[in-house]
Amino acid sequence: MADLSVKVAGVEFKNPVIAASGCFGYGHEYEELFDLSKLGGISVKGTTLTRRDGNIPPRIAETPSGMLNSVGLQNPGIDYFIEKELPYLLKKDTVIIANIAGSSIEEYIEVAEKLNDTSVHMIEMNISCPNVKKGGAGFGTSCDMAASVTKAVRKATNKPLCVKLTPNVTSIAEIAKAVEAEGADAVSLINTLLGMRIDTRTRRPILHNNVGGLSGPAVLPVAVRMVWEVRNAVDIDIIGMGGISKGNDAAEIMLAGADAVQVGAALFNDPFACVRIVDELEKWCEVNKVDKLSDISGGVVTW
Ligand SMILES: Cc1cc2nc3c(=O)[nH]c(=O)nc-3n(C[C@H](O)[C@H](O)[C@H](O)COP(=O)(O)O)c2cc1C
Repeated sequence: MADLSVKVAGVEFKNPVIAASGCFGYGHEYEELFDLSKLGGISVKGTTLTRRDGNIPPRIAETPSGMLNSVGLQNPGIDYFIEKELPYLLKKDTVIIANIAGSSIEEYIEVAEKLNDTSVHMIEMNISCPNVKKGGAGFGTSCDMAASVTKAVRKATNKPLCVKLTPNVTSIAEIAKAVEAEGADAVSLINTLLGMRIDTRTRRPILHNNVGGLSGPAVLPVAVRMVWEVRNAVDIDIIGMGGISKGNDAAEIMLAGADAVQVGAALFNDPFACVRIVDELEKWCEVNKVDKLSDISGGVVTW
């Protein structure tokens, strides 16, 4: 059997398949279906300093081969997470990644400092959030803002730090370079692509928030292209995601340059998607005569 283990930002994963933030909650519902230790890791729902109730429904819409969401970072806040969810998750024999979010650099710092005193294995910093002090532009949409928040959080924690990039930019490679320069240990990409749908009968947007983030199989080619561009721009590790629903998709995004992968929207269609993808990767290795899966990272042979 092939060796599926991978290393990202110095952290060992038994396999490269991580449940994506916002699509797995804290694992309680999934644990009724399978043993969470089968996963390479779990990235928990985006956590902010204080509790957030999220956006007004409707906040999910179906799209061809995907979905739009505008959940709006509904979460119980960092103290609740550390006290009530993290101790249980840390017993699950899988890598636990705390996904953090904020509306100001100060909020990111405070959340990261609180996590620094815990045994969480890695911090994934979502920089797709609006910076309220800069007119609501996303932190991840300019090199300056992305660099500033990375620099500040790097100082606030010595946990492995993975910065999660937004695809809603002209050059994601430039943003990746900016966060690498400020001490990010890894980058993860892609977050959702901004989209909109309208009910033609009522003439109202389907989402109450008007716009939302597109994910699911429809975005896979965008994710593959962006991972490949970032792989050619930085030396730090990459967690690739966006539209992965099969083992072959995971292998594809690894060939583009990812060291590990996350699976999000596919879980709503098939709650077993992550464990199925681990099995499919094992078969992929057998068919393609690969002994160690991590050897394929960045192995695309371009024309
Ligand atoms: C319902 C929903 C909620 C999400 N919540 C978060 C979140 O809290 N933090 C975050 O960094 N990404 C969040 N994401 C983005 C996913 O983690 C992932 O980056 C994106 O959906 C692309 O992967 P996929 O096509 O496999 O879903 C969310 C996605 C969905 C569909």
